[in-house]
Amino acid sequence: MEILKPLAVVGTNSWGSAAYGKVLRGESVDIDTIRKCYERAKEKDLMIFDLAQDYGLGKAQKMIGEFGTDDVIISSKFTPTGSYKAGQVRRSLEKDLQDFGRKYIDIYWLHLPSDIEKNLNEIIALVKEGKIKHVGISNFTLEECKRSKEILDRAGIPLYGVQNHYSLINREWEKNGLVAWCQKNGILFWAWAVLEEGMLTDPRVKTKMSLMKLIFNGRKRKLHSLYVLMNRIGNKHDLKIPQVAMAFCVTKGIVPVCGCRKPYQVDDLFAAANAKLTDSEMRLLENEADKINVKILGADMFRFAVKKNR
Ligand SMILES: NC(=O)c1ccc[n+]([C@@H]2O[C@H](COP(=O)([O-])OP(=O)(O)OC[C@H]3O[C@@H](n4cnc5c(N)ncnc54)[C@H](OP(=O)(O)O)[C@@H]3O)[C@@H](O)[C@H]2O)c1
Repeated sequence: MEILKPLAVVGTNSWGSAAYGKVLRGESVDIDTIRKCYERAKEKDLMIFDLAQDYGLGKAQKMIGEFGTDDVIISSKFTPTGSYKAGQVRRSLEKDLQDFGRKYIDIYWLHLPSDIEKNLNEIIALVKEGKIKHVGISNFTLEECKRSKEILDRAGIPLYGVQNHYSLINREWEKNGLVAWCQKNGILFWAWAVLEEGMLTDPRVKTKMSLMKLIFNGRKRKLHSLYVLMNRIGNKHDLKIPQVAMAFCVTKGIVPVCGCRKPYQVDDLFAAANAKLTDSEMRLLENEADKINVKILGADMFRFAVKKNR
């Protein structure tokens, strides 16, 4: 798969930790199932795996390191927390390289817009040393993206992508011009949580209770008319309800990052990534989503973790 033109990305934040899986998703998935999911993604040419040190409560990176990282594309992140300390990005990246058994990382994201200039300068140095191939930023506003692009431009390094929270029912970054800015500047927009952590899945499919479901189940009832529409549109393309949410992004030229820990989820993501909805279907979906006044996790939900004086 082209690193510069990915169809879709496999998210790994529920890999690894049984406790995380059980509490947040209702069930844990054994390592053999996750390994099959990883193998299936490779068979389907969905070669990009999105990681971070805290995914799976710290276990996801080590897990993919065990599976093998030679012939896949690794996307991982530096998460700034607390006061800036010189060398913090390098130290974190060295740990990642150990986890992955790699000499470099294909795509490396600054996870939050804290100490933007200082952290990006460290990232620039690591690009020059060949330890990072492509640079992205995540959870950044349009203003912060513009500032970051200027810093990278000055160093002659292209901004690869912006990875923000986006879905059919959470299109704030599109409405405020960030997605258009990315597309105009040849920067990829990766959407994380395109299924809204399970809210945009078929309500008729019963799954085990979890913390996320406790939060979302009441809200899912409000989405009834949207599910009916997604089901109708999906039937025309042989897609299930969650696949319509994925295909919605793909049709926009947005790269969906979807949490997959079971092989069937990779199959679903692959089929949706190759689907294209019509203009009128896209309009119908947008209009219906806009009519629904359901409280969701905000587009900029990690702002609380960003250092004030950044
Ligand atoms: N940059 C950032 O700040 C940031 C933040 C959060 C996430 N991310 C990235 O985005 C990825 C996706 O986010 P996420 O995993 O939290 O949420 P998500 O992809 O929106 O939703 C995951 C949920 O959807 C279910 N699901 C997945 N595929 C499905 C399918 N084909 N049919 C039915 N249900 C399906 C999963 O079910 P099961 O429970 O059965 O597995 C899980 O409950 C993460 O893994 C991570 O890589 C990035």
